[in-house]
Amino acid sequence: MVWWKDVNCYQIWPASFKDSNGDGIGDIGGIITKLDYLKDLGIDVIWLSPMFDSPQDDMGYDISDYEKVYPKYGTLEDMDQLIEGCHSRGMKLILDLVVNHTSSEHQWFKESRSSLDNPKRDWYIWKKPKYDSQGNRQPPNNWKSYFTGSAWKYDEATDEYYLRLYAESQPDLNWENEDCRNAIYDSALKFWYERGIDGFRIDTARLYSKVQTFPDAPIKFPNDEFQPCDMYTSNGPRIHEFHKEMYSKVTSHYDAMTVGEVGNCSREDALKYVSAREKEMNMLFLFDVVFLGTVRTSRFRLLDFTLVDFKSAIKSQCDFIKGTDAWSTVFIENHDQARCISRFAGNNEKSAKMIALLQMTLTGTLFIYQGQEIGMTNLPRSWGIEEYKDIETLNAYNDLVKRNNITDKNDPKLVEFMDAAAKVARDHARSPVQWNSTKHGGFTTGDPWMRVNDNYSDINVENQIDDPHSVLSFYKKILALRKTYKDLFIHGDFEMVDEDNEKTFTFWKKTNDLKALVILNFSNDVVQFEPPQGELLLSNFEIDKALSPWEGRVYIVK
Ligand code: NOJ
Repeated sequence: MVWWKDVNCYQIWPASFKDSNGDGIGDIGGIITKLDYLKDLGIDVIWLSPMFDSPQDDMGYDISDYEKVYPKYGTLEDMDQLIEGCHSRGMKLILDLVVNHTSSEHQWFKESRSSLDNPKRDWYIWKKPKYDSQGNRQPPNNWKSYFTGSAWKYDEATDEYYLRLYAESQPDLNWENEDCRNAIYDSALKFWYERGIDGFRIDTARLYSKVQTFPDAPIKFPNDEFQPCDMYTSNGPRIHEFHKEMYSKVTSHYDAMTVGEVGNCSREDALKYVSAREKEMNMLFLFDVVFLGTVRTSRFRLLDFTLVDFKSAIKSQCDFIKGTDAWSTVFIENHDQARCISRFAGNNEKSAKMIALLQMTLTGTLFIYQGQEIGMTNLPRSWGIEEYKDIETLNAYNDLVKRNNITDKNDPKLVEFMDAAAKVARDHARSPVQWNSTKHGGFTTGDPWMRVNDNYSDINVENQIDDPHSVLSFYKKILALRKTYKDLFIHGDFEMVDEDNEKTFTFWKKTNDLKALVILNFSNDVVQFEPPQGELLLSNFEIDKALSPWEGRVYIVK
């Protein structure tokens, strides 16, 4: 049996976890001071988001040197200590593998952009301009960047455009070039495996292979100049060849855990990445749940959704591996998503525990995100754009202002944007972890790089750690119970009971000889309920017959 199916994983966003030197930015030293806390919580694997050297335009997803650590986070020696600190406690450490693009400050790109005949020219994706009928220079096609505007950036030095699906300073690597692929394997992967890490979360794992004719994308948003280009960039023609090569040349030589950010695709396409016989990666993150309520290719365009949609998204994630040799994950938060209790539940302690109960019982490897274990919430709606730090939010805001010549903060279009940002911006996940009730929530003794959520004196680790009724103590319980009942919760079959009910979410988890009934009240109303003949395993409220608002129960039925 492989080790990575039954583990509890915890994602750390280094800038905001814990600052150990008072410069206002989280660091590796800070993480090391909290390893005992994580071990005690019941964590087996830490996924550390990028801590490599980087100009930080996209918080480290813009890497300028895979083999160095961002100096404000620490040094290679600090990373060695972190690896050793995890291993000596019986925990593992996985890093982020960001190899769809580098930073434009990476030496490879500096060389590539220096001339048309530089040996690394072909390591990135360069194209000649197009010209319109008036002779104006235009990008090679109409593809839109995930971070607003054209996906192409003009570079004067050689009069060509380079592709950048994310920020201007994140040029896409050209995976068609074999030397480039080998350099990626050596620098981004082997370097770290040889230092002792235990695997990778694979960033944007579906994007490496682009359709090489680079055609215009169909018009989805008629008022927009640039259009989503997923059909030509996601799950492209050679994507599986590339993943198989990465596996055979590197990953297969280590006892590694790999989890791909695959996100948007059909079940059939997704299975190709994680079917065991394909030998590509161990498991993947699917976005069915976290994309609820937003347009997939355009985060700040909100959509209505109901509990029925939420339930069906959970069901499809749980059923994903049914009848296959594939494996999957359970998660509801990460650094790209708003806080789950604000988005999907009652924004209170009780519903934080109810979401924890849900997570306890779902099929796949569980990942929780820093702060989720204490019920951290979204940032207040009253905060202005000056408190938001994420490039995705700021680019979208500035683009809106520019395109509509907005000068007044109360302009309805801006208010609508800020309403959406208050619900779904990535910033909500990125505010500092709330450790205690002292200034800045005990995250730093200096000035934090991002404001700490105003509710830190209520919601923080110190308040909760010795309180048996806290969200934190509840998470400890669910992480332990998930292992005690691993055949049922981690591996069991999911069967929905009340598909169309708009208030409750009731389902079975089943193995051949054990069943659990999970019932969750996703409403502000009391719901009548007939308990099954069985033993109550856990609930987030003192039991009465009816289900109180945001109450959840799990019964074991023999
Ligand atoms: C996905 C990451 O999760 C996100 O944070 C980042 O902005 C993009 N990939 C670009 O690397």
